[in-house]
Amino acid sequence: MFFASDNGLGASDKVMQAISAANGGARLGYGRDDATRIVERQLSDLFEREVGVYMVVTGTAANGLALSTLTPPWGIVLCHDESHVMEDECCGPEFFTGGAKLVGIRGPGAKITAKALEASIASLGRRVPHNAPVHALSLTQSTELGLVYSVEEVRALSAIAKAHGAGVHMDGARFANAVASLGCSPAEITWKAGVDVLSFGTTKGGGLACEAIVYFDPAKGEEMVRRRMRGGHLLSKHRFLSAQMEAFLDGGHWLDLARHANAAAGRLADGLAAIPGIRLPLQPQANGLFPIMRQEIVAALQAAGAVFYPWSDKGLPEADRARAGETMMRLVTSFATSADDVDRFLAVAAKAARPLAAE
Ligand SMILES: Cc1ncc(COP(=O)(O)O)c(C=O)c1O
Repeated sequence: MFFASDNGLGASDKVMQAISAANGGARLGYGRDDATRIVERQLSDLFEREVGVYMVVTGTAANGLALSTLTPPWGIVLCHDESHVMEDECCGPEFFTGGAKLVGIRGPGAKITAKALEASIASLGRRVPHNAPVHALSLTQSTELGLVYSVEEVRALSAIAKAHGAGVHMDGARFANAVASLGCSPAEITWKAGVDVLSFGTTKGGGLACEAIVYFDPAKGEEMVRRRMRGGHLLSKHRFLSAQMEAFLDGGHWLDLARHANAAAGRLADGLAAIPGIRLPLQPQANGLFPIMRQEIVAALQAAGAVFYPWSDKGLPEADRARAGETMMRLVTSFATSADDVDRFLAVAAKAARPLAAE
């Protein structure tokens, strides 16, 4: 019953076999191997246009490096107040951008609304040379609270950013889960909706450690050749990154894995919604769930061996937040979550909730 994160369950068999297969023979290093060219082709096909591709090992590096090509050190990056770039990367974006300033925007479900984006931009000072200008907007797809931006939402947000001269970055650590949930094409939810650069994740979705920084205008990413090297993120034995990405993309494997994870989250959500003492203020749309649970239920689940953690409910409207005796918990399903795991979790929760039903 492991629901702590989608990085807790290894990599898919297909990815592991590809890494093992890539081990034999000699290849040129630093991305000059054939498999890297194959991945570039695969991603160009997937996104229906020529793209610039730079693979790195972590999502944190992908985000920071991507943002460094959108803003100078004196620029502002707008992002959600609860986004990974804002809260969980130990100032990685500030480091990679040479000091750009992250400005957080609040909004339910870790989503930025068009209205909030407009208001945030309007509130920024414009005194030259005193105030920093906005250079980038970073959106997380799917969000840190398990929701997805629709195509229309991304389009509207990008249009506002562009009207103010800002480029658009998408943190796609869970891009696969978003595409699986939306049922749209990868092109529709990215460059066709105004996204300039995407951190395309495999690690959370079934890779071992590989994320691609994808430029929809390859010319905009050219300096990444040196930025990635200088940042210490150009892998010498790059073949092992390309092998992961090639296997992840091959035959739609990435979407199959994401569909599995999303379906497990749906099964969990349906079951939890029927249990007294549990409520779901956010209807999950990808592979993360944030139920508010009575503490007796949380304790019973933890005693039964379930691994999951509390999460801040600060982004919820006040009426939805945890009350006395309740905690908001974070449950994340993955490509390897089994139906049995979900059902055992639900059974323990339901049993613990029985005395509460009478209240
Ligand atoms: C939304 C989001 N973006 C980026 C990352 C960073 O990935 P990594 O841990 O590989 O640096 C994570 C990891 O938790 C994440 O959840």
